[in-house]
Amino acid sequence: MVDPQKTVAQQAQAQAQAQAQAQAQPGAVPPHGPTLVAGGASSSLRHESAHLHVAGEARYVDDVPLPPNAVHVALGLSSRAHARILSMDLGAVQAYPGVVCVLTAHDIAHHNQISSVGAGDEPLLAEDHVFFCGQPLFAVVAQTRHAARHAAVLAKVEYADLPAVLNIEQARAQGSALVCRSLEMTRGNAVQALASAPRRLAGQLAIGGQEHFYLEGQAALAWPGEDGEMRVCSSTQHPTETQHMVAHVLGCPNNLVTVEVRRMGGGFGGKETQANIVACLAALAAARTGRPAKLRLDRDDDMMITGKRHDFVIDYDVGFDEQGHVLGVDMELAARCGWSADLSGPVTDRALFHADNAYYYPDVRLRSMPLRTNTQSNTAFRGFGGPQGAAAAERVMDEIAFVTGLDPLDVRLRNVYGITERNITPYHMTVEDSIAGEVMTQLAQECDYRKRRAQIREFNKTSPHMRRGIALTPVKFGISFTATHFNQAGALVHVYTDGSVQVNHGGTEMGQGLHTKMVQIAMREFGLPQDRVRITATTTGKVPNTSATAASSGADLNGMAVLAAVRTIKDRLITFAATKWQVLPEQVRFTAEGVGVGDTLVPFATLVNAAYMARISLSSTGFYKTPKISWDAATGRGRPFYYFAYGAACAEVVVDLLTGENRMERVDILHDAGLSLNPDIDIGQIEGGFVQGAGWLTMEELFWDPSGRLRTHAPSTYKIPACSDRPRIFNVKLMENLPNREETIFRSKAVGEPPFVHGLAVLHAISDALASVDDYRTYPGLNAPATPEQILRVAERLRSKGGVGHAQVHT
Ligand code: MTE
Ligand code: MOS
Repeated sequence: MVDPQKTVAQQAQAQAQAQAQAQAQPGAVPPHGPTLVAGGASSSLRHESAHLHVAGEARYVDDVPLPPNAVHVALGLSSRAHARILSMDLGAVQAYPGVVCVLTAHDIAHHNQISSVGAGDEPLLAEDHVFFCGQPLFAVVAQTRHAARHAAVLAKVEYADLPAVLNIEQARAQGSALVCRSLEMTRGNAVQALASAPRRLAGQLAIGGQEHFYLEGQAALAWPGEDGEMRVCSSTQHPTETQHMVAHVLGCPNNLVTVEVRRMGGGFGGKETQANIVACLAALAAARTGRPAKLRLDRDDDMMITGKRHDFVIDYDVGFDEQGHVLGVDMELAARCGWSADLSGPVTDRALFHADNAYYYPDVRLRSMPLRTNTQSNTAFRGFGGPQGAAAAERVMDEIAFVTGLDPLDVRLRNVYGITERNITPYHMTVEDSIAGEVMTQLAQECDYRKRRAQIREFNKTSPHMRRGIALTPVKFGISFTATHFNQAGALVHVYTDGSVQVNHGGTEMGQGLHTKMVQIAMREFGLPQDRVRITATTTGKVPNTSATAASSGADLNGMAVLAAVRTIKDRLITFAATKWQVLPEQVRFTAEGVGVGDTLVPFATLVNAAYMARISLSSTGFYKTPKISWDAATGRGRPFYYFAYGAACAEVVVDLLTGENRMERVDILHDAGLSLNPDIDIGQIEGGFVQGAGWLTMEELFWDPSGRLRTHAPSTYKIPACSDRPRIFNVKLMENLPNREETIFRSKAVGEPPFVHGLAVLHAISDALASVDDYRTYPGLNAPATPEQILRVAERLRSKGGVGHAQVHT
């Protein structure tokens, strides 16, 4: 029942309480309702591999011991951005001591294609053309990694250069082709709304890309088996797709290939599709030589070869009133996609899905422009285009506040999605649970935003070089894959006769704690301690046809699949126990002390062993598909998301106007993880996501020289946040007692990507500090990344008031 007097949070709480009461009634639900077990779900169990991580004993692909006959692969790369290959002399490569063989496109002539979206534009090894500087031309297979790497640079390649399109500006100027279809979303009549709005502004926001910088680089190890079998240990977020791609390049059916992933040392989206390159080349080398083959990219090669976060240029035109209410929005979001489609379609779609962030646009038109360029093929990266879209929304709110003289928080609150009205997104989905306003208001109170903003303005009046700024921004992030069919998952759970349990599911562990959460679900349901539930490596041999662990959906999807598998086994055990001990099924309960059967307590292992003796199956698969969702790209309408995750961040920075350096003085984050499956892990995700987002917007800068060579291809030239860059005061809190309205796993919410968007608070705080240079008269129009150079440039422009820069105010 919806009570308009209550906030959404209160309603959700009431709903959860009602449910808990319903479940407490005997017979109301199956007897496997929530039994809280110490260390079970909803508690901060330590990461299942923490003891291995800290001892250096956790095995990554490169740690798997190799037999002495193993070979090593290295890649020869294009030195041109766009060219026809005239000749490729591999004589010296082949002759290098230790080289076993060299593979080129000719060796895989009929199967040299790994486009994950079926675009057919991604040869594994270059054919007669190269499309970016860093494109793999050939693979050297040698006795040692050293020999392979040394041999790889000895090729003599002749090119005939072709015109290269390197960035968004060039692509637009030359009208170059799109890498995939563009998407348009419209609701109402934006053109008319803009024309009749009392006030209007237009501008442009440029947002840089980002290197994933996973600690463990791309790596794969392929073991040829008998009769054409191939087993691949890969650092991939998407074992099923890697399996398919390996089978494709080997020209064999999927059932000959098994892909296994114990864990990744970070993926962040960079191993959603692009791990396939490495896995396929390792498998080809193994197939050719009949020996185990490993390919672990050197960091520089990794950065030269693999795609990154898409950089965007967003043109916006907005109509609004004197009170800061948005009336109409028209935006075009252009992205540098690189040489092949890869995931650029869904990434630029998601940018549109988040170009409203948490705000209602009464009349709106949004268009994506995915541009093909002669650079690395940009790909998934935490948020998947969403953060770029949200950046545009925040720019618009900030600029409206600036030109109307309102506090940006008030403009944000005035435009935030409503609960019963003003709640339709540009893609015609109703936002049923908008709590962004509540979260922002609560955070503003808790961190004393208004008082501190006033103090900062005072401080800046008398501080010649050090300027402070503050900003508070929300996030509303849509959860589900927008390709509806990906929203399915499987699990396989085994109970052994000693009562120990093995859990397997289709998701992969990349540090985000997914496996820990899956263990917790089994622990909670069976009433077992952590050491009785073991997670095993993800493998296509146990759970087939899985989706990438991506879109933050890992725990939502696989958690429900694990739950389904566990409950199938529990149901069998309950039926068995009820018959054996002559009690009602409702009288069998799984608790931390053991299985309660009527008035007696039977140890789990005893029950399980008795069930085995009675020939009860103790193993089950589980399957889940997300309900309610649908999406039609052709009409731009649907319910692509099962629900939204919310949060807000407030950042205070200090900027040194002499050097452009900046520091986060204080950051407060309030985030909605529903009923968190593991609060400590979720807070870790929020902290990490925020820092990664802030790094993207303030210090990480990719630079290609005019020939198209990426010059920032190592940590020496590419700066990611260090420990010392974290905020001096850093308060991260979860929203409490706020169950997911939807029936997700134990009413939790996905948490992997949404907190990345909190980094936007830092960009806006820097902008706020910079605005003081000109006494808050000129909008800084700050682009990202706000590096010291960029900050100095903007400060200089504001000092000289030589123009309003990126923001042109029409009226
Ligand atoms: N956290 C860590 N430590 N390492 C990672 O690679 N990837 C992020 C996020 N958090 C990542 C991470 C990305 S891009 C996604 S989509 C989610 O985790 C995927 O995991 P989940 O669906 O289980 O949250
Ligand atoms: Mo995350 S970008 O969806 O892998």
